[in-house]
Amino acid sequence: MTICFLNGNYLDIEDAKISVLDRGFIFGDSVYEVMSSQDGGIFGLNDHLDRLEKNLFEVMIPSPMSRDGWREVFAKLISIHEKVDLSFYIQVSRGSAPRSHSFPRDVKPTVFVMCQPYVRDDEFRLVACITLDDNRWGRCDIKTTSLLPNLMLKNVAIGKGAYEAILVRDGYVTEGASSNIFIVKDRQVLTPSTDHNTILPGVTRKLICDVVRSIGVVCSEREVRRDELLSADEIWLTSSTANIVAVNMLDQISVGNDSRYPLGRRIHKAFRDYKVNNLLSF
Ligand code: PDD
Repeated sequence: MTICFLNGNYLDIEDAKISVLDRGFIFGDSVYEVMSSQDGGIFGLNDHLDRLEKNLFEVMIPSPMSRDGWREVFAKLISIHEKVDLSFYIQVSRGSAPRSHSFPRDVKPTVFVMCQPYVRDDEFRLVACITLDDNRWGRCDIKTTSLLPNLMLKNVAIGKGAYEAILVRDGYVTEGASSNIFIVKDRQVLTPSTDHNTILPGVTRKLICDVVRSIGVVCSEREVRRDELLSADEIWLTSSTANIVAVNMLDQISVGNDSRYPLGRRIHKAFRDYKVNNLLSF
């Protein structure tokens, strides 16, 4: 049995229902978050809630709950599911109203939180990727549920037997279809900057930058050219669900100058330890 939270109620997921007029369903007029719990504590909770609140503000959906309210929901779901490691999906839509492009007044946002068992993958994984033209919109910084462009790009990659599509816009690398990207060159780490709204400011991205800097390695946030990607010593992808994985094949060509991925392996381990030491328990 999986219990979810919907508009103030804890329900079996099979019994959770929303209106067909919900604007999340009709327009994708909603934002979301994904995070995970480990041993009953949530990693990066405040960063995820900061981003959720910022996104709600950006799309002009009123914030439906206080920080304490969100914490109560997670604590309850963790306790109901007996503290197994969970991944959480949170969605807030503008609410339900007759279909109209204009934002309706006086609607209550729909608030939904579901969770599922999260299997920790402690292996350092090497994956194959392809590059694709980043044809998404100009506000990729907003974590909207309107993910069809990302899904189409991801599924081109999957269709070619790849793990992820690495996206390139006007000659510059942006991010993966569902991940952020880092490259290593000459023992320095580089990741595309968040300055131009072309990438999602990933929570994992931010924390990996901190971990890299904490071991005395330079981590720069700036534009990354496609040719820098192709000649990188290491390429990593990060996300809250996959943590950090390394890319060893790009467009069917072997990439990475050092197939042992020394820095990637070190950061993978350091990040795992960092997570254990930074869980927000309830
Ligand atoms: N996606 N960029 C995009 C486009 C993403 O969809 C994600 C994560 C990231 C990484 O962000 P974070 O480190 O905060 O998870 C970057 C999630 C996991 C998803 O949609 O399921």
